[in-house]
Amino acid sequence: MNLERLEVELQGPVARVWLNRPEVRNAFDGLMVTELRKTLFDFGAIDAVRVIVIGGRGPSFCAGGDLQWMKAAVNFTREENLRESQALADLFFTVYNSPKPVVARVHGAALGGGAGLVAACDIPVAALGTQFGFTEVRLGIIPAVISPYVVGKIGESAARELFLTGERFEAVRAAEIGLVRAAVPPDDLDAAVEGRVKELLQAGPRAIAEAKALIREVAWKRVEDVQRYTVERICDLRVSMEGQEGMRAFLEKRKPTWGS
Ligand code: COA
Repeated sequence: MNLERLEVELQGPVARVWLNRPEVRNAFDGLMVTELRKTLFDFGAIDAVRVIVIGGRGPSFCAGGDLQWMKAAVNFTREENLRESQALADLFFTVYNSPKPVVARVHGAALGGGAGLVAACDIPVAALGTQFGFTEVRLGIIPAVISPYVVGKIGESAARELFLTGERFEAVRAAEIGLVRAAVPPDDLDAAVEGRVKELLQAGPRAIAEAKALIREVAWKRVEDVQRYTVERICDLRVSMEGQEGMRAFLEKRKPTWGS
């Protein structure tokens, strides 16, 4: 696929996807949504790829939906408008549902859908000074398709404040409310991201995919409702090739086949 809105680097087991539309702070339009969704989906299906890192070229991670593009929806039919909105929802779901762990490298600004993208990633790490915000209400719209991911990460209490005020907030607050996992000095951002990648590469690739599915399945459910599922998952995984190799490697005091 010829990419106009992204830059992609494949280095060993790590796929780096750069939003590359810096002139509008990586705001996403229809083309970026399509390219990002397809790229992430494709990487999800490649065995050799074990970690995906998403970052932004230029001064900011992502300024959210392209306001020119969203404004133009007034000329769409209802069906066209629904189709574009669905494509956006599918993008966030592709990130969230990826069998690969997705790390976000966040700097500059992550606003609206940009903050939503952060929420959909597994391990977002931000530079101190990064500006976050669910600014939609200030534009007369709402953070609709990103809301399940954001509320899942920051909870209803913080969402009520931040979705309703639309105020901007800094990386330290984003870390406190659980939107990002860490806020580090800008000069340490790449090292912090690499640190997360290194940890992820110690884990069994299938185990990671299964662990992501496990979280999706048990989050917000009653223990009684998910107990059978959890029993079946551990039952399957401990006799899987990867499970057997991981446990054997530990007992034999060596690294498992996937370990670096
Ligand atoms: N959609 C379309 N264009 C956008 C955009 C967006 N979401 N965000 C920024 N841009 C454009 C600006 O209009 C500007 O275009 P211009 O050069 O033609 O004037 C260009 O990107 C650079 O933006 P600027 O504000 O000058 O850059 P900055 O580095 O000082 O600030 C932001 C960057 C992201 C903090 C700021 O642009 C901003 O607050 N954007 C609005 C983000 C927002 O509310 N998004 C929610 C969408 S739902």
